[in-house]
Amino acid sequence: MSKTLPPLMIVDDERNMRLSLQTVLADEGYDVLVEESAENAIKTLETREVFMIITDAHLDGMSGYEFLKLVKQRWKDIPILMITGYATPKLAVDAIRSGAIDYLPKPFAPEELIHSVKRCADTYHLIQENINLKKAQTEEFSLSHIIGKHPSMEELRNLIATVAPTDATVLILGESGTGKELIAGAIHALSNRSKANYIRINCAAIPEALLESELFGHEKGSFTGALKRKIGRVEEADGGTIFLDEIGDMSRPLQAKLLRFLEDGTFTRVGGNEELKVNVRLVAATNRDIVESIQQGSFREDLFHRLNVVQFRPTPLRERGDDVILLAEFFLKTFNENLGKNIEGFSPEAIEKIKNHHWPGNVRELRNAVERAVILEQSQIIQPEKLPNFQIESRLRKEDKDYSAFKSYEEILENCERNMLLVNLAFCDYNLAKTAERLKLTETVLKKKVQKLNLIIGSKAKI
Ligand SMILES: Nc1ncnc2c1ncn2[C@@H]1O[C@H](COP(=O)(O)OP(=O)(O)OP(=O)(O)O)[C@@H](O)[C@H]1O
Ligand SMILES: [Mg+2]
Repeated sequence: MSKTLPPLMIVDDERNMRLSLQTVLADEGYDVLVEESAENAIKTLETREVFMIITDAHLDGMSGYEFLKLVKQRWKDIPILMITGYATPKLAVDAIRSGAIDYLPKPFAPEELIHSVKRCADTYHLIQENINLKKAQTEEFSLSHIIGKHPSMEELRNLIATVAPTDATVLILGESGTGKELIAGAIHALSNRSKANYIRINCAAIPEALLESELFGHEKGSFTGALKRKIGRVEEADGGTIFLDEIGDMSRPLQAKLLRFLEDGTFTRVGGNEELKVNVRLVAATNRDIVESIQQGSFREDLFHRLNVVQFRPTPLRERGDDVILLAEFFLKTFNENLGKNIEGFSPEAIEKIKNHHWPGNVRELRNAVERAVILEQSQIIQPEKLPNFQIESRLRKEDKDYSAFKSYEEILENCERNMLLVNLAFCDYNLAKTAERLKLTETVLKKKVQKLNLIIGSKAKI
């Protein structure tokens, strides 16, 4: 029997019955508390947790039915199994209506009792798991997890604390990796909705045709493959928060439906007629330039205004001053712990390198860079060589974007190929064999490509 299961309680005024129930269940490994009256049971319940109660319907003093009602009022989640010697269908219905989870007429086989108790134990574990999950979800996001001393970060935390307890719709705009998801999570965790569900949907990761059904659900047979009714994520989020990530990628027709949903919380499942209503707080985020999307017609302006009740704009990492070092140290500590290492810090040259890079991938890029360095570093201090070769990566990004500077398709491809090879060669310390393996090429093919593109190997200065 699982150690985390609290005892179960038996309430019966007949001594023999108490003893036989106790013996059967103790043999199954359950921890058992026995009480001879409802009055005593209530006193015990005030101080002890039990995962279920088994009570006789007929007790001296307060009857089993009255006891059941009282427990349901005060401890509504405790399942109760009722046992009686005078079983009639009406009594069974009464017991179930009053909140009993099951009803066993005497005489019953021990297996029937054991089966019923096991079901309650399973339910208890499921409920606990759910509570723990929600707790972990909320603990994962809190203001203290948003690292940064830069004034823009202080301001950000203050704004989160102010806005979270309201039901205001929130729009988070910012470059990739600036912490949009962290902000959305903290808003839910600090809101009055934190005990209800936090549902995150990445609009870019779900095919357009499925996103509507994911969000609002569908009725059986509404499209090929809709084999049964599906509850939408908005229903799961009822009473809680829904975070629509990458909302800039949502199709225009679905944007119209979302707008309607935002007006009054109503929606219909795909293929359904019934109008449903939920109470959900919406937080949305995108790393796209939303104004440009509106100008190009891919994002509805009315939806933008409806979402934009409170706007968050996390600053790019390169504009947060010394926060980059603070974050690097924070990630060093995290990965030391995760990877069982004990690296003490960064060398002055490594710090310089971190400070000089412009971090186009923001905090995520920094996190990945530190993780890689912690893996690769053999000494006690992170050396600059263990950080990625930012020079190449910056150049790659710049040149990749500057497609208009090249004349033909062939030339653009050649340029991409050259940069891709340079990055991979640098990653493998310019070792041809290793690079070939990494790219799943033979060394001869790689050599030919390197010669054709006039790449100079072994001379980092040329890159
Ligand atoms: N201020 C911060 N303190 C600590 N960790 C942070 C901070 N900002 C971001 N991170 C971490 O950086 C990573 C990227 O953050 P997050 O996923 O929130 O970015 P994002 O803005 O949603 O990016 P994208 O637009 O690419 O989805 C995560 O691992 C997150 O925990
Ligand atoms: Mg994100």
